Amino acid sequence: MARNIIIDTDPGQDDAVAILLALASPELNVLGITAVAGNVPLELTQKNARIICELAGFPGMLVFAGCDRPLNRPLVTAEHVHGKTGLDGPQMATPTMPLQDQHAVDWIIDTLRAAPENSITICALGPLSNIATAMQRAPDIKPAISEIVLMGGGFFEGGNITPTAEFNIYVDPHAADIVFKSGLPLTVMPLDVTHKALTNKARVDAFRALETIVGHMTAEWTDFFERFDKEKYGSKGAPLHDPTVIAYLIEPNLFSGRHINVEIETQSELTMGMTVADWWGVTDRAPNCTFMGGLDTDRFFKLITERLARLK
Ligand code: BDR
Ligand code: CA
Repeated sequence: MARNIIIDTDPGQDDAVAILLALASPELNVLGITAVAGNVPLELTQKNARIICELAGFPGMLVFAGCDRPLNRPLVTAEHVHGKTGLDGPQMATPTMPLQDQHAVDWIIDTLRAAPENSITICALGPLSNIATAMQRAPDIKPAISEIVLMGGGFFEGGNITPTAEFNIYVDPHAADIVFKSGLPLTVMPLDVTHKALTNKARVDAFRALETIVGHMTAEWTDFFERFDKEKYGSKGAPLHDPTVIAYLIEPNLFSGRHINVEIETQSELTMGMTVADWWGVTDRAPNCTFMGGLDTDRFFKLITERLARLK
């Protein structure tokens, strides 16, 4: 039976590839997509989510707009990486499918309240504002969540928005703190693993060689945000961060990690949003997540390409 998932996202080119991968995969049943402010403001992330659904041939997908800012801090965005629209690169049509009227947080609460225990997986690809707000407002939704799989944080790789913080956690550290302290099963894809999900020419050419609109858009998006990352890291490609979350649900054995304690820095401005990971077990703090570190990169890209080929 397909696994029921909710995708919470701030697209973002790499979010786009993650959403396409999920929609193309029969193992997953996407109940709805909830947009949050992050890479770009909410008005654009909800619009981008609808562009991606239409591109994938899913104009009936439920897309909701959620929090337009973090819990306690002003919004920080990343147009320097993703461009003005958040999905810069190829030409894009204006979406015609509707945005749902209900607020994303209310829909998450209603959906989880109506669901059996352990029946829905939350896939979080952006700042955790929507998820934390839902859990704060309605703690009774927790039993319905079987797992939260999120892209965020970094430890040995440091940060990508400050020396110590990864973007998603930095933007809303207080929301991340709530999620990491939730007691729910948590799987984390930090920079330590996503920096291994690096594109290169052959991998992007394989997207283009699908000769479909989806393949073309994916190649163009990847080309666009590669420019920034190549310059920043001096690498040959760019990390495709968010698809790791979806790939994990399809083929968990592509990844390796440790069940450890991770705490979120919410006090010091210098290290705000740092994921303090007890990788070596030097404290007696109880493990609260599986923190990934290893990836079979070739199989990861093969999986994405093979699945995107199913979307015409
Ligand atoms: C994360 O931040 C965003 O720029 C990406 O979409 C990804 O979710 C990587 O730090
Ligand atoms: Ca994202």
